[in-house]
Amino acid sequence: MTQTHKTQTPVLKTQVAIIGGGPSGMLLSLLLSKEGIDNVVLERSSRDHVLARIRAGVLEWGSVELLRRAGVGARMDRDGHVHNGTRVAWQGEHTMLIDSKKWTGKSFMAYGQSYVTEDLYAAVSEIETPVLHDVSDVQLHELTGASHVTFVQDGVAQRLDCDFIAGCDGFHGVSRQAIPASVQKNYEKVYPFGWLGVLSETPPLPDLWYVQHERGFALASQRSAMLSRYYVQCPITDRVEDWSDERFWNELIARFPPEIGSAIITGPSIEKSIAPLRSFVTEPMRYGALFLCGDAAHIVPPTGAKGLNLALSDVYYLWRGLTQHYQQGSDTLLDRYSEVALDRVWKTERFSWWMTSLLHVFPEQSSFDHRTQAAELNSILASEHAQAWLAEQYAGFPVEDWG
Ligand code: APR
Ligand code: PHB
Repeated sequence: MTQTHKTQTPVLKTQVAIIGGGPSGMLLSLLLSKEGIDNVVLERSSRDHVLARIRAGVLEWGSVELLRRAGVGARMDRDGHVHNGTRVAWQGEHTMLIDSKKWTGKSFMAYGQSYVTEDLYAAVSEIETPVLHDVSDVQLHELTGASHVTFVQDGVAQRLDCDFIAGCDGFHGVSRQAIPASVQKNYEKVYPFGWLGVLSETPPLPDLWYVQHERGFALASQRSAMLSRYYVQCPITDRVEDWSDERFWNELIARFPPEIGSAIITGPSIEKSIAPLRSFVTEPMRYGALFLCGDAAHIVPPTGAKGLNLALSDVYYLWRGLTQHYQQGSDTLLDRYSEVALDRVWKTERFSWWMTSLLHVFPEQSSFDHRTQAAELNSILASEHAQAWLAEQYAGFPVEDWG
């Protein structure tokens, strides 16, 4: 990043301006920096605020390999837990193993997103790529011309000239809004319930469990040998204060088959929050010099554990495209970015919607609907083909040219 003072506003220059210092922005910054591509990250929050966010915790094997390629796999490989499959329970009595390793040859890793983000911040700070925190009023300019970003930091208005802008600023960011409405098409589905999530310093169940029950969905996950992550579906109108620890644990255990629920070790919650569920996609994911990545472009309900993994495959595609631009003078990958990324996004959106529809109780749901949910799970249990198909999707769709 170079600084000139053409006007009273300090004018900075870089090759790629990255808006957003979450997993998408920080992994992209790290990968570009390793290629010698100049970049600057503009993040509106403090580093502590970003790292304090509690998010999901399942990495597809492709994501594991990408993080290793980026040089941030050491703690993940040490502390993460490799799983060869996930378990499903329904109607309080039936269970099945979805054996990803058997059907796809791929495992997945249980490793918290907050740990991924910490690892990325540690790696980026080692290479001294500029990550500007507490920036405000970020605005994107001349996306089809002399692209640049303006922002305010420490009360000083600044301008950052750049060749490209990576919009990694999440669902509530500004990048997506910079695409003209005449060009943009948004697709959205909002679900009529939420997830109440609890973190507890207790030993988790050995496996991940997705649970369908007439009382509602439940999920058992993990962060480490002494840190468990559990969720129960709840009305979207519920507030965290409506849920004591005792009520949470009783409701969670009631949704599992007794032999599984009785193995859940309860304890005080150290974090408790309610999150809404939504499906969202914006098209295109590119406009001129702007490339949208991760939650800025798409949102999935957490049922399929795909939010972070989709963000990382977007980053992979953009990293390869920008590298080809600067090192080979070709834009064939950048020109295909939106098409290739959206292909994987939509397949993953469909899977996440399907898992959500299959496993949750919907307010208007009839008894017929509930029985067909159980029948669909019974039919998957009876078909190795169906289990293989579910395993393929849970393990993660292929990433084109995932070299
Ligand atoms: N200016 C600068 N930074 C911004 C702005 C803005 N106007 N708006 C948002 N940001 C920052 C946020 O503070 C956040 O740190 O952009 C970052 C976006 O990070 P995420 O929301 O985590 O999105 P992403 O990096 O794509 O990661 C996707 O995070 O939310 C989960 O489920 C999601 O697992 C998925 C992953
Ligand atoms: C989590 O560990 O937080 C988690 C795991 C699987 C999901 C969603 C969240 O599908």
